[in-house]
Amino acid sequence: MQEVVFKSLTNGVYIVTVQDNDLINGMTTPWVTQLSYEPLLVMVAISPVRKCHEMITNSGQFAVNVLGANQVELASRFGFTTGHEVDKFEGISTQQTPAANPLLADAFAYIDCELVETLSVGDHSLFIGQIVGAELLDPAGSPLVFNPDDYF
Ligand SMILES: Cc1cc2nc3c(=O)[nH]c(=O)nc-3n(C[C@H](O)[C@H](O)[C@H](O)COP(=O)(O)O)c2cc1C
Repeated sequence: MQEVVFKSLTNGVYIVTVQDNDLINGMTTPWVTQLSYEPLLVMVAISPVRKCHEMITNSGQFAVNVLGANQVELASRFGFTTGHEVDKFEGISTQQTPAANPLLADAFAYIDCELVETLSVGDHSLFIGQIVGAELLDPAGSPLVFNPDDYF
């Protein structure tokens, strides 16, 4: 059943990044959805066991880094290693978004969000973010589309 759902729902691939005090981190997820125009809101589904879950809860903000079509490798790195154990940003060129969230080099776009609500749903939390900034960084490129065969 889960395989059918994975293969039939279409998503992009995102690395949600966060800075909590001196620590930066990020994790891969295709589970990002726009959910309101006014105010402009997105939601991200993150398991409570992720390091990013604790960090976003503490910092009250996060950025959605929208990956470009050639960034599958980066998505794997941020999806198969955890900030509980390693610094995923080591050796990776990183800037900051205007809201001071980590911005990955060569991302297709970023969306800066303030955390406005957290809902516990099933085995994930829905982080609802109000968009406070967004920029298309590679207008000539195209975003990465989620294909489970690239990862599992
Ligand atoms: C393709 C892919 C999709 C993923 N989707 C999600 C997701 O929707 N929610 C989630 O909590 N974790 C998801 N993960 C797992 C996290 O990205 C992974 O556990 C990561 O190591 C968490 O990092 P952290 O512990 O540093 O926060 C996904 C991983 C991959 C490779």
